Amino acid sequence: MSSIDLFQNPLRRWGKGKRRPTVRVKELHERDRRRVVRHFLGLEANDRLLRFGSMLPDERIEHYVSGIDFSGDMVFGVYNRLFRLVAVGHLAFAPREPGQSEVTEKERVAEFGVSVSKSARGLGIGSKLFERAAMHCRNHDVDTLYMHCLSSNKTMMHIARKAGMEIQRDYGEADAYLKLPPANPASVLQEALDEQFATFDYAMKANQRFAVKWLDRLRALWRARKP
Ligand SMILES: CC(C)(COP(=O)(O)OP(=O)(O)OC[C@H]1O[C@@H](n2cnc3c(N)ncnc32)[C@H](O)[C@@H]1OP(=O)(O)O)[C@@H](O)C(=O)NCCC(=O)NCCS
Repeated sequence: MSSIDLFQNPLRRWGKGKRRPTVRVKELHERDRRRVVRHFLGLEANDRLLRFGSMLPDERIEHYVSGIDFSGDMVFGVYNRLFRLVAVGHLAFAPREPGQSEVTEKERVAEFGVSVSKSARGLGIGSKLFERAAMHCRNHDVDTLYMHCLSSNKTMMHIARKAGMEIQRDYGEADAYLKLPPANPASVLQEALDEQFATFDYAMKANQRFAVKWLDRLRALWRARKP
């Protein structure tokens, strides 16, 4: 199978393919908003162009993030070992438009946008965020995942093709659709397990970060008290 097998056995990576670190994709919430802004502001100009379709200045990015509806949309993130948010996937739901009736009969369609910090690229994070978004759609009665990007975006085009997306190119831009099968108990369980593992991983990293900060502070105090 050439496309990403979206709902395969979670042990699938064992013994085959490239050895890549496990990627834990976690749902983000209101409290993560500032970190999302920081992640986007850290993207270089060209990456902002690829992610948003234009070179957004900082204020526009801040405005965009302040408008994200964390309760209606779905925002996913990946934290690195140092507890930095290095990737964000935004799955926005919108009512189906009249022109989209040949694509889906469902009430809603989902549009996905993703970015990975330069330091974390090539590790499978972008693909994993895409898989997770597709799984979430499938489990929430959305059968079509939509993505809009520049057709010069070779990496994203590669991910889209690998996932089996249908791609329509027009004037340097590309619209890609992925048809998703309906949910089943395995897909629901897999999403729940993925989130549980990611939450555990997040808590470990947060505690580790807290411990390092606390030790640093203690060391600084100790040094200050030395005659
Ligand atoms: C696109 C992006 C999200 C990919 O993130 P990533 O974590 O590096 O992606 P992955 O590691 O999962 O996969 C990258 C794949 O593209 C391939 N690739 C990398 N550069 C490529 C290129 N120039 N041409 C073709 N394929 C390329 C890699 O080999 C890998 O393929 P594989 O998984 O089959 O080995 C990241 O590059 C990014 O944030 N770009 C800027 C923002 C953007 O373009 N967003 C998408 C618009 S919605």
